[in-house]
Amino acid sequence: SPNSVVLGIETSCDDTGCAVVDSTGSILGESLYSQTALHIRYGGVNPVFAHELHRNNIESAVSDALRNAGKNIKDIDAIAVTTRPGLLLSLQVGAKYARYLCRIHNKPMIPIHHMEAHALVARMYHKVQFPFLVLLISGGHCLLALVKDVDNFELLGKSIDNAPGEVLDKVARRMKLRNKPEYSKISGGQAIELAAQRSTNLSQFEFPLPLAKYRDCNFSFSGLKDSTIRKLEEREMEHNVMGDELIPEVYDLCAAFQLAVAEHIAHRTHRAMLYCEKYKLIDPKNRVVVVSGGVACNNFIFKSIEHVGSEMGYKTYRPPHNVCTDNGVMIAWNGIEKLRKQIDIRTDFSLKEVEPE
Ligand code: KG4
Ligand code: ZN
Repeated sequence: SPNSVVLGIETSCDDTGCAVVDSTGSILGESLYSQTALHIRYGGVNPVFAHELHRNNIESAVSDALRNAGKNIKDIDAIAVTTRPGLLLSLQVGAKYARYLCRIHNKPMIPIHHMEAHALVARMYHKVQFPFLVLLISGGHCLLALVKDVDNFELLGKSIDNAPGEVLDKVARRMKLRNKPEYSKISGGQAIELAAQRSTNLSQFEFPLPLAKYRDCNFSFSGLKDSTIRKLEEREMEHNVMGDELIPEVYDLCAAFQLAVAEHIAHRTHRAMLYCEKYKLIDPKNRVVVVSGGVACNNFIFKSIEHVGSEMGYKTYRPPHNVCTDNGVMIAWNGIEKLRKQIDIRTDFSLKEVEPE
């Protein structure tokens, strides 16, 4: 139909997100039950806990999104739901509920790949045509891919150890940034971005560029994490810092660490651009890189990517912050894109909901 309406459901990690989106790219209604605040307190996502919270929130998340949209489930053309990748128990909560709704209301179900949704949602906000380059950086993922079509992705590189958000969160925690009230209720990545803005002398800390000798597009963040913690421990010893105290150079260390993370990400993105040029994988009239995932919210890191992008003739786009982090909008939008091309439209519910990665 010319203007379809899709309900999207996302439960792959720690946020229960739902949205109602139409084919023009308008968000008619949305809801987000975030567990972030809780996980900041406990220092990470607990799969058993996450599962229970999704179970408690899923019905309200769906009904809130529909109510905000002023829609009844009968007005919806299809239900799109994340089926991979993610925490198995969490994925099952969304997928089971989507399947139940599709069955009783006789609606088609569209399985969605979480990473593909992160990449494609940029098309809702910017003029982004296939093929384009995507960089996904969050607490759970880190990859560079060439997006050739709605259902055609070529992985160019990924992290060989941790994801950048995971490392930012661990370092922020180890630096005890949460002990300052202004950083106590935000993610580690955001805390580091704010703390870095107060730095006056970051050049006292230097980090080698990870994987500098390698010409591929892979990432590595564990070395940067370890060297940052080592420098932190040196200063703690030097200043005889105890218990809950922060080192006096905490802002400078945050800034130097953030700079190293940004330089590494920009360097690998540059490699991907050179690869695309070499094999003519991107149309020279349409060079675009999309940056998404929670770490894309970091303006310093985003600007570093924008900088290499402009040197290579690329336009650099990112969705609004609340759509960079996990959300239901991107799932609903991916449903719209698949509906348009009649890809993966399921009406037979005898199959299992969640597919292995
Ligand atoms: O995409 P997301 O909500 O969930 C997944 O991990 O999939 O991303 C959350 C991550 C966390 O690690 C958080 O520290 C990071 O994104 N993050 C940031 C910023 N805001 C969130 N990292 C750096 N700078 C930020 N401003
Ligand atoms: Zn994500």
